[in-house]
Amino acid sequence: MKQIIITVILCATALIALRIAMPKTEKSQSVIEAIHTRRSIRNYKECAVEREKLMEIARAGIAAPNAMNRQAWAVRIVDSKEWIDGCTEAFVATVKGTPLGEHLLTTDFKNMFRNAPAVIIVAAEPTRFAGVDCGILAQNMMLAAHELGLGTCCLGSPVDFMHSEAATEYLSSLNLPEGYQVQYAVAVGYADEAPEAKPRDESKISFVE
Ligand SMILES: Cc1cc2nc3c(=O)[nH]c(=O)nc-3n(C[C@H](O)[C@H](O)[C@H](O)COP(=O)(O)O)c2cc1C
Repeated sequence: MKQIIITVILCATALIALRIAMPKTEKSQSVIEAIHTRRSIRNYKECAVEREKLMEIARAGIAAPNAMNRQAWAVRIVDSKEWIDGCTEAFVATVKGTPLGEHLLTTDFKNMFRNAPAVIIVAAEPTRFAGVDCGILAQNMMLAAHELGLGTCCLGSPVDFMHSEAATEYLSSLNLPEGYQVQYAVAVGYADEAPEAKPRDESKISFVE
């Protein structure tokens, strides 16, 4: 009996020690804390993002509330360097010399998704609330990524390009249902910067008496 108790105590101690020693890759935080500490990240480490994490992020995305549960969205995860670089090459050719090009094509420019190693492209069915649904989906994904220790940046800049002639090959590779429109792309990667929060204007909020 004494031996059993000692064995149980030893096992419990080992488990506790293991838990303490395990590197914490995932931060545990409240939703409100996550909302206030998430930032748009525009510099990423070169390392790839694990596919399980990308999948978990996308799954969190589609857990979002959506009108009549139509799930009128399409979520495409791209982590192929070849795809990202090829799409970027076509994009650069179209924006070079324009104000958008001036803004984006800085010396540290590596790709059109803020240099992220992965991107999640979200498209909406052309129905009344699908755009709203996709917006909520985006924030779910960005908060999930934040919890998983990843940085994100919601990007509107690739949208028009994705529906332009120059991007035909890349748009068709997304295999979107007929009529779906790309809403945004979310850059995902390990952050290589920690920007300050941008202040919000609380005068935009008011109670109605
Ligand atoms: C719909 C949408 C489009 C955006 N497009 C871009 C973009 O093209 N490029 C970019 O660097 N950031 C883009 N952002 C990120 C915003 O600039 C950023 O969310 C805002 O400055 C607030 O900063 P924060 O996310 O760190 O709080 C976009 C955000 C949203 C929601």
